Amino acid sequence: MSEAYEQAWRASIAQPEQFWLDAAGKIDWFDAPARGWDDRRGWFPGATLNTAYNCIDRHVAAGRGDATALVYDSPVTDTVAAFSYAQLQDEVGQVAAMLASLGVVAGDRVILYMPMIPQTVFAMLACARIGAIHSVVFGGFAPLELAKRIDDATPRVLLTASCGIEGARTIAYKPMVDEALALAAHPVERVVVFQRDRLLADLIDGRDSDWQELRQASAADPVPPCARMAADDPLYILYTSGTTGTPKGVVRENGGHAVALAWSMENIYGIGAGDPFWAASDVGWVVGHSYIVYAPLLVGATTVLFEGKPVGTPDPGTFWRVMSRHGVKSFFTAPTAIRAVRKEDPDAAFLKEIGTGACRVIFLAGERADPDTIAWLEEQSGLPVIDHWWQTELGWPGVASCYGLGDLRRKRGSAGFPVPGYQFEILDEEGKPVAAGQSGAVAVKAPLPPGAFRTLWNNSSGFAKNFATFPGWYETGDAGHFDAEGFLNIMGRTDDIINVAGHRLSTGQMEQIVAQQDGVAECAVIGARDAIKGMIPVAFVVARAGAANDGSLRQRVIGAVRHELGAVAALKTAFEVPALPKTRSGKILRNLLRKIADREEWQIPPTIEDPSVPQLVAEAMERG
Ligand code: COA
Ligand code: AMP
Repeated sequence: MSEAYEQAWRASIAQPEQFWLDAAGKIDWFDAPARGWDDRRGWFPGATLNTAYNCIDRHVAAGRGDATALVYDSPVTDTVAAFSYAQLQDEVGQVAAMLASLGVVAGDRVILYMPMIPQTVFAMLACARIGAIHSVVFGGFAPLELAKRIDDATPRVLLTASCGIEGARTIAYKPMVDEALALAAHPVERVVVFQRDRLLADLIDGRDSDWQELRQASAADPVPPCARMAADDPLYILYTSGTTGTPKGVVRENGGHAVALAWSMENIYGIGAGDPFWAASDVGWVVGHSYIVYAPLLVGATTVLFEGKPVGTPDPGTFWRVMSRHGVKSFFTAPTAIRAVRKEDPDAAFLKEIGTGACRVIFLAGERADPDTIAWLEEQSGLPVIDHWWQTELGWPGVASCYGLGDLRRKRGSAGFPVPGYQFEILDEEGKPVAAGQSGAVAVKAPLPPGAFRTLWNNSSGFAKNFATFPGWYETGDAGHFDAEGFLNIMGRTDDIINVAGHRLSTGQMEQIVAQQDGVAECAVIGARDAIKGMIPVAFVVARAGAANDGSLRQRVIGAVRHELGAVAALKTAFEVPALPKTRSGKILRNLLRKIADREEWQIPPTIEDPSVPQLVAEAMERG
């Protein structure tokens, strides 16, 4: 056990305001916080700061302008480029000037639909500099999903690139943006397109601008100053899957976010100024926001922006190569990525040949890390592998072994211990705490620590729902248990959210799409186990009487989910079944379907309406 961890956790729970006011000392404020918490205004009421200033300008002012801020490593374009803090300041300033020339002011929303290129990072930070609220939409989402986010966030400007590069494929982004803008009710004033050499996009007169040309045109403009933002002013909106078809816009506030992320870099990841840190995620997800962009820069570290996949770009040695090349000290990825590497390189030949350079520790998150994957990675790399748990809503880890505090306790299958700031309880259906070893709903005591969400964009009632089941507690939506030694095991969701290759998706949303297809009488989408992606969605469809029985329905259903939700949904399997197993009250027995799909042993539940259905479903599956 680590004494430093124990002390920090106890102090954070006994005197949260003092604990976080102390942590706030690592941030430069215009108006320093006098108080920790206020029920109405949240963390650090009345304090003002600028997040981009804290990420860039203050390091330059402190004489660290020449230190490397950002390394862009893109095996898909054969590019490695580094930006010092001074260069980053210049790039961000110019994009800020470009946004200002379009009339963007503090409080305006700017949507980014962009790949993993430095311009995406510049643009996020430029928004932060001028106080505009960015909302990054992951490139794997379809136009309709982008349109939903446009209508909810009502941005003045949309920034995009001509294409993304997914392994060996080039994906044209601009046609998707055009389609989304046509679908959206909200009129976006201006679209700015970063043209990549690989594929140029057509621009529409009057609405679209070429990024480089616009930047040139505003190059002589004064760089807008770092806006004075209240601690509770939004920094960004990040949409994530909820239990309905409508995405939830998690709002991140400037003050708590900066304090929590800076604290986490030092105390969880063991990273400080000058240390290279790499989170192999995508800026479209929360991990990318927090640990590719904001947190490493807040502490003056070097962050790696990797445009590639764990395998195929060009081989399963790419992680080890990038890590070694840049002297990465702490590495963060998703278990699914390691499973993909292991599948292609089971004996870790690439790892043995390339090594892990200066890396001291590997962190995993995004889905439960299966013990087998951790064991393989620890054995092959010789490094401690720390599973840790968090969510878009929280913005930073809630369960971990705080490596930076000297805590290296690990148990395979567990995500570790409550991070300072978080008080967990496992609750039964009545909201009563259960004993160690017993499973229940994973809940966090309110108020949540700095950095965690305090509202949803345009949806305060949706936010309140997270605290309604267990008053005084935040319902995480995960199920789990503490063991006798205090390790917290997160086992899965209590709702219809699934994790596909570390991507959070709603099966309920997929079901809504499938149900709307012609010829579908009823349907269910469940998460089935997958050796690489952890889970994959599988659809069971009952055809309407008289619908053509030629397999076309399955293809249409798969096509519709890809078209409406996006390639990231990865729904590739649909079965046409004669009926769905249901209880006598008409509830679909999803657990039973899951077992059948996973080819596990299943039993007929006593509540079933028609006991012959499960066998018919299993037979339909075997027929393929
Ligand atoms: N833009 C456009 N399309 C994208 C995309 C993006 N940014 N990201 C993914 N897609 C597409 C993929 O090309 C794929 O399309 P396809 O069905 O035509 O092949 C589809 O969405 C599904 O992608 P994915 O689930 O990523 O599958 P994959 O086979 O391409 O890769 C892994 C599998 C495991 C290698 C990959 O998912 C991975 O690296 N996962 C780690 C995720 C992660 O870091 N998550 C963050 C949490 S820490
Ligand atoms: P996201 O909001 O996309 O980060 O997804 C959050 C969800 O991913 C959590 O609610 C969990 O269900 C799951 N998750 C993330 N990390 C872990 C982990 N280390 N162990 C188990 N589940 C995890």
